[in-house]
Amino acid sequence: NTRAGLDLKALIRTIPDYPKPGVLFRDVTTLLANPAGLRASIDELIWPFLGAPLDHVAGIEARGFILGGAVAHELGRGFVPIRKKGKLPYATIGQDYELEYGVDTVEIHADAIGPGDKVLLVDDLVATGGTADAAIDLIRKSGGEVVAACFVIDLPDLGGAERLRRKGVTVHTLLAFEGE
Ligand code: PRP
Ligand code: MG
Repeated sequence: NTRAGLDLKALIRTIPDYPKPGVLFRDVTTLLANPAGLRASIDELIWPFLGAPLDHVAGIEARGFILGGAVAHELGRGFVPIRKKGKLPYATIGQDYELEYGVDTVEIHADAIGPGDKVLLVDDLVATGGTADAAIDLIRKSGGEVVAACFVIDLPDLGGAERLRRKGVTVHTLLAFEGE
């Protein structure tokens, strides 16, 4: 439970067979819609970084925008969007990443992060870690340093958090669904 005494995991809805048979989809919208749940999630995401040197908070489209914006606001930093391909209007840097079938691309504005800038990366969930891995590469290509990557939900069976730690990134997660 959180310091607010709240069971965040209990606020996440599980949907069987979405988006395809055999998959248990962990739906964060029920947590986000709960006022105490949203507040406790943001509080728990930010506490390790209160007082840490930090220049920007970056969030990954789409669900990472919801949490990342609130985290940036609470930490008193600006927000940098990492978006799916073709959505950012100015010059961009891109990074491909593997999906189960095929490949996708995330992009960041080329001038969003300066050399040596310290960046906190935020998303709702880490599964394989492919999306966050690509986002970390974008921040590093921009010359930035990833202070940590934080997520509400970890799916350790898929190894994403470990993958990011192997890249030398500090990973902070609030709850896990493992072997269930
Ligand atoms: C989901 C989730 C993470 C990512 C995690 O996003 O919000 O961003 O997958 O998976 P991974 O660790 O295996 O890369 P999704 O791409 O489904 O889209 P959305 O956030 O735009 O809904
Ligand atoms: Mg996402």
